[in-house]
Amino acid sequence: MPLANALRNPDDASPEAKYPLRVLFCRDCALSQLSVVVPPAEMFRWYPYRSSISKTFRRHCVRLVEEVKERTSLPTTARVIDIGSNDGTLLAAFRERGFRVLGVDPAENLAHHARAAGVETHVAYWGLETAREVVVRWGRAECITATNVLAHVDDLGDFFAGIGEALAESGHFVVEVPYLADLVEKSEFDTIYHEHVSYFLLRPLLSIAARHGLRADYVRRIPVHGGGLRAYFAHDDGEAKVPDTVRATLAFEEEAGLYEEAPYHRFAREVASIQNDLRRALERLRAERRRVAAYGASAKGATLLNSIEASPDLVEYIVDDTPEKQGLLQPGTGIPVVPRSSFDETPPDYLLILAWNFVDEILEKTRGFGGRYIVPVPTLRVLP
Ligand code: TYD
Repeated sequence: MPLANALRNPDDASPEAKYPLRVLFCRDCALSQLSVVVPPAEMFRWYPYRSSISKTFRRHCVRLVEEVKERTSLPTTARVIDIGSNDGTLLAAFRERGFRVLGVDPAENLAHHARAAGVETHVAYWGLETAREVVVRWGRAECITATNVLAHVDDLGDFFAGIGEALAESGHFVVEVPYLADLVEKSEFDTIYHEHVSYFLLRPLLSIAARHGLRADYVRRIPVHGGGLRAYFAHDDGEAKVPDTVRATLAFEEEAGLYEEAPYHRFAREVASIQNDLRRALERLRAERRRVAAYGASAKGATLLNSIEASPDLVEYIVDDTPEKQGLLQPGTGIPVVPRSSFDETPPDYLLILAWNFVDEILEKTRGFGGRYIVPVPTLRVLP
């Protein structure tokens, strides 16, 4: 498979880098990880994904800030570090409430947007070394957030060592990861791509954190991006007992059989059937001379369409509101990414929703376009 966010310039005739894409399940610790790790510099130095594009996600950030304030009673003068701060969307919400904020992200192109939004940003990968630099220049943080970034990290030990270093004594580390329980249950196989090295359950997350002296004091499931887990960690003083939310989530994982192999075999069969159904549906529409386009040049869309070997004769174009993506081609399939205006000019008969995590927002934006929608996951559906 090609790299999911490596959109191509139409003039680029160089061969496209491809890597195996396989997820392995560890019977010992129940962490699932990719079989190969692509060097991060190939994926993250220039990063086209912008958090601020989705209204749903901006709203999610504001709610997260409110919850953090409520649960931690941080003083509003507290320092907050966001790891994988992207274009500063989450930190802008913290800053508006008076917090002192620092973003850390390896993508230079995004730091520029973040700074323009008033969010100080340090361009670096997170780890012990970066944490030490940040502490020297900025001090320890009362709150560190990492939303949707842990899955991207190869060296989890170094990442958590950095948290241990930079988190103030009574500080809070708030982490959000896509939840493997949701991925498997809802056949979200298209969230598997090279950027996502790890697929988390709570159990392995707790063990990694514990090795670095952190314990979870609150956990809950969250709806964002198809289903995630949000966990609050603190330095372990050895006193606290296991909180109910942690106990209940571990019990759920155990009961769902997620520490055994069976659910993953079931998942593999369901994925194969979605892929078959989608490929056949697109071929049938092509035979009927129906025009099909897609919405959301998401990384997920690259996995989905490459996994069925789609091409521009099956899906004519992909609409995306991110200026950085427009005019480029989806990796692997070569399907062109276009702005919304192209869609308004030549609306298709069917619109395949590749960013199904934002389905409501996309339905609202395209209401009345005159065609029907195809939603691929968790099962292939045609709306209305
Ligand atoms: P997303 O599903 O967030 O993530 P990933 O790339 O990790 O799979 O990507 C959604 C894509 O859809 C992103 O390129 C932005 C785009 N998008 C729009 O163009 N307009 C919209 O209204 C929304 C919600 C998303």
